[in-house]
Amino acid sequence: MSFVDLLKKRRSIYALGTDVDLSEEEIESLVKEVVKESPTSFNSQTQRVVILFNDSHKKLWEMTEDVLEPLTPAEQFPATQEKLQGFAAAKGTVLFFEDADVVSSLQQQFALYADNFPIWSDQASGLTQANVWNAFAEKGIGANLQHYNPVIDERVSEEWSIPSNWKLRAQLVFGSKEAEPAPKEYMEDEKRFMVFN
Ligand SMILES: Cc1cc2nc3c(=O)[nH]c(=O)nc-3n(C[C@H](O)[C@H](O)[C@H](O)COP(=O)(O)O)c2cc1C
Repeated sequence: MSFVDLLKKRRSIYALGTDVDLSEEEIESLVKEVVKESPTSFNSQTQRVVILFNDSHKKLWEMTEDVLEPLTPAEQFPATQEKLQGFAAAKGTVLFFEDADVVSSLQQQFALYADNFPIWSDQASGLTQANVWNAFAEKGIGANLQHYNPVIDERVSEEWSIPSNWKLRAQLVFGSKEAEPAPKEYMEDEKRFMVFN
C-alpha cells in the first residue's frame, strides 16, 4: 500500500467492535513505537500515552456517561448515551496527554520561544495522534478521535493514577471495523492550494 493509499484508508470509523486481529501486546508495542518515532519540538518528547483495553476501556466510557449526564439537557442525553455506548463497544482507547512540566521547563530554558512551546507541544500531540491513527489503519484497525477532556480529566486521573502534570488532550477509540464510512467529501483544490514556479 502506498503512503497516500494508507492516508485514504484512515477514516473516522464509529462502528467498532472487539474482534481485532492484533493481540493486546502487539497493539501496545505498535503504539509505543509510533509515539516514540513521532517528532516533538527540540526532541522534548512531551507526549504521554495511556492505553486502555477491554474493562478499563469500558470503564472510561461509563465514567464519561456519568460525568456528562448532569451536564447534558435531558432530551439530548439518550443520543449522547448511544454514542458513548458505541465507543464502549470497541476494543480500547488510547489516551493522549502532554507533560505540562516539560513544556514549562522548556519555556524557562528558552525564553525566546516561551510562547511557542505550548503550541508546538499541541502540534506534536496532533501529529502523534495522527500517526497512531494511521498505524492502526495500516493494520486494519478502525478508530475515531474524541475530545471529552477537560470534563473527564479528574475522573481519569483518579481512576488510573495519572501524574498531575499529564494534561489530557485526546482519546482515540479503536477496534475492529464493523462498517465502512460514507465516502469523504472534499473542497475544491482551487480554493485550497497555491502553486508557483
Ligand atoms: C483535531 C481534530 C479533532 C477532532 N475531534 C473530533 C471529535 O471530538 N469527535 C469526533 O467524532 N471526531 C473528531 N475528529 C474527526 C473529524 O471529524 C474527521 O477526521 C473529519 O470529519 C474527516 O473525516 P475522516 O476522519 O473520516 O477523514 C477530529 C479530527 C481532528 C483532526
